[in-house]
Amino acid sequence: MHKHLHLLSIVVAVCTAFSLINEVDGDYLIGVGSYDMTGPAAGVNMMGYANMEQSTAGIHFRLRARTFIVAESSQGARFAFVNLDAGMASQLVTIKVLQRLKTRFGDLYTQENVAISGTHTHAGTAGYLQYVIYSITSLGFVNQSFDAIVKAIEQSIVQAHNNLKPGSIFLNTGDVENAGINRSPSAYLFNPPEERARYSSDVDTTMTLLKFWDPESKKSIGAFSWFATHGTSMSRDNKLISGDNKGAAARFFEDWFTFGNKSLSTPITKSSAKPVETSTLIKKAQTIKATGGKPCGKTTSQGFKVRKNDGSGFVGAFCQSNVGDVTPNVLGAFCTDTGKPCDFNRSSCNGDDQLCVGRGPGYPDEILSTKIIGERQFQKAAELFNSASNQLSGKIDYRHTYLNFTNIEVELDDNTVVKTCPAALGPGFAAGTTDGPGMFGFQQGDTEINEMWKRLRDILKEPSRYQVDCQKPKPVLLSTGEMLVPYAWAPAILPIQMLRLGNFVIVSVPGEFTTMAGRRLREAVKETLISNGNGDFNDKTHVVIAGLTNTYSQYVATFEEYKQQRYEAASTLYGPHTLSAYIQEFKKLAKAMATGEQLGGTDLLPPDLSSVQLSYLLDPVGDSPPPGKKFGDINQDAAQPKGRSFTKGDKPSAIFWSANPRYDLLIEGTFAVVEMLQGERWIPVYDDDDFCLYFKWKLDNITFYGLATIEWEVPEEAASGVYRLRHFGSSKKTKDSPNEYFTGASSAFTVS
Ligand SMILES: *[C@@H]1O[C@H](CO)[C@@H](O)[C@H](O)[C@H]1NC(C)=O
Ligand SMILES: *[C@@H]1O[C@H](CO)[C@@H](O)[C@H](O)[C@H]1NC(C)=O
Ligand SMILES: *[C@@H]1O[C@H](CO)[C@@H](O)[C@H](O)[C@H]1NC(C)=O
Ligand SMILES: *[C@@H]1O[C@H](CO)[C@@H](O)[C@H](O)[C@H]1NC(C)=O
Ligand SMILES: *[C@@H]1O[C@H](CO)[C@@H](O)[C@H](O)[C@H]1NC(C)=O
Repeated sequence: MHKHLHLLSIVVAVCTAFSLINEVDGDYLIGVGSYDMTGPAAGVNMMGYANMEQSTAGIHFRLRARTFIVAESSQGARFAFVNLDAGMASQLVTIKVLQRLKTRFGDLYTQENVAISGTHTHAGTAGYLQYVIYSITSLGFVNQSFDAIVKAIEQSIVQAHNNLKPGSIFLNTGDVENAGINRSPSAYLFNPPEERARYSSDVDTTMTLLKFWDPESKKSIGAFSWFATHGTSMSRDNKLISGDNKGAAARFFEDWFTFGNKSLSTPITKSSAKPVETSTLIKKAQTIKATGGKPCGKTTSQGFKVRKNDGSGFVGAFCQSNVGDVTPNVLGAFCTDTGKPCDFNRSSCNGDDQLCVGRGPGYPDEILSTKIIGERQFQKAAELFNSASNQLSGKIDYRHTYLNFTNIEVELDDNTVVKTCPAALGPGFAAGTTDGPGMFGFQQGDTEINEMWKRLRDILKEPSRYQVDCQKPKPVLLSTGEMLVPYAWAPAILPIQMLRLGNFVIVSVPGEFTTMAGRRLREAVKETLISNGNGDFNDKTHVVIAGLTNTYSQYVATFEEYKQQRYEAASTLYGPHTLSAYIQEFKKLAKAMATGEQLGGTDLLPPDLSSVQLSYLLDPVGDSPPPGKKFGDINQDAAQPKGRSFTKGDKPSAIFWSANPRYDLLIEGTFAVVEMLQGERWIPVYDDDDFCLYFKWKLDNITFYGLATIEWEVPEEAASGVYRLRHFGSSKKTKDSPNEYFTGASSAFTVS
């Protein structure tokens, strides 16, 4: 008896110990969140291509801020990682978000343990960065863009925080096929042959995925993945807001998890009735006319949303990595005049950079390219998600510091000491890339600047002698680090950060590292962790680079790539030793993390330039519909094709009289809905988050009244039935009058 009791207590003790170990080693608190950050959909310049003519004119699908938070316990160590469907992170956004988090949460979320990363879509609105060079084409700062992003980050973090509950995390990695190629292969070839020989490709094909598991509901709550490919499937001529291929992948992944591997339009209520004859359907549809414009409430469109955000949904995010030289335009770059491949070293056609343009897999259809590159990432992520079994355990930790990149002393392997330089751009920057050619007269690889450009440059700012020498072999086209009027043109103070989740480490970099630059940094961090970690880190330690995080400072090429001065090297701001400086400083972070030490304090802080921002973009000042019309009235109705239904690939559309969408961004709502008649009720089946639904906005070219076009590309899976298109919008009579909300629906039509 006694003996039995004894045994039992041992068993109990062992079990308790085991579960304790499990709790300490295996389980974290995890929360995810997601919030709409779609900016102004009319007349605002887009971030990425720096193309003055590329201003928004509608929405392909909405942009989101997606967050995960992991914590050791309710008061324990934690970090938050935010992925934005944005061109990049912005210093000013980060500063404002941190201020708001401090107000809400005290010292729980700070610069140390919050990472804000951009997917690098080139189809979001611009004007949210604080340094001059990044807001020239947007005519300065655009408060509406900025505000939408800050608010969405804050809300997604609040959601994730409120959702924190015990869970497990699984890591998986695999190769993504054909979703990126090197767009500067000639520069890659400058890297030492023995180094290149260690890799099978001139791009990193690895996708790294974290899967978050809730043991209580026995369901996953989210997954975040990292993979390097540019957000340039959509071209420099596109005017629709889009998350590009990563935003698309996220939309496909979340829909796949939420609705299954099928379209949304499969009837929600399964009808037991016999299928209805097409002619009967058409007859029914013909009786249903456009509703005309009607007033509605501020949040009415949210009720019509197919994907309502109640803060409890599955969050699937596709994050950026060492993307510098990786293009999604995987067919290669060709001359638009001859159709022949461009010059290998210069990416030009008979000396003209503007004729050399990359082709995506859907060429010449950029929407199709976006879809295909998005699907390739989504399919791999789904596979990694389904097979993830490597459970993470161990400490959560983080290190963060600010560096003044203007003159970091770097000790090279041969003990010589070199320095970084004030920021500067070379002529290869002005040439642009094969994803979006830049100005005429420049070519990638230019190592000289002609006299005329030198004179023009000197009117703006003549670079100092020191700068010219420091940046060599880059010729200084714009000495942005020395240009301070009307305010700083380029950042000098940059954050670097490491986040640890057991044996998984995120390296947050404020820019676009090229493939080889990223490999060198990852390797240096991993070696430093292992050699200082006392067994805490090992060969299986997985290091991932989170690109474009916390702030933006353009590119980082290797010392060797820098010699060729293609776009990436010409945009490596702080001179030939920029990468060496990053590696040196990240090793300090890695060592501190491995040994459990804190970093020596620094007084450095990036400046908050919000009070000096210039804004030249005017806000709309009031709208009215044409005489005799109401907002939401039909301008051009959806028309049933003669004697048949719409089928897959058809594009039923309707045009409504509408006001500028900048009066209200309808955050977490929708400008466009496809409704399906089920019984006697209209059920929303697609919203403006859908890949197949387009919201376009323009001024009528004769009357200058606003027009909203809703266009639906009928997908394969769309069920037969009666449909109509609905528009939501908001207007103001004058700049200071209150918002008035309206809606209208088209006549009905059929799909079979
Ligand atoms: C920016 O927009 C927000 C929200 O509308 C407003 O509170 C703020 O005052 C604006 N800031 C500026 C500088 O216009
Ligand atoms: C590219 O430039 C390198 C020198 O940097 C040269 O050796 C090579 O022949 C050039 N390739 C082509 C295809 O022009
Ligand atoms: C979805 O279905 C298609 C076709 O049936 C299949 O090829 C694909 O692998 C599926 N995707 C996922 C993520 O399950
Ligand atoms: C960064 O370093 C440069 C060069 O030493 C110096 O002029 C500048 O004041 C520094 N910036 C800050 C914010 O410390
Ligand atoms: C107005 O736009 C329509 C449709 O885009 C076009 O066909 C027409 O030529 C334009 N008219 C003028 C006067 O620009």
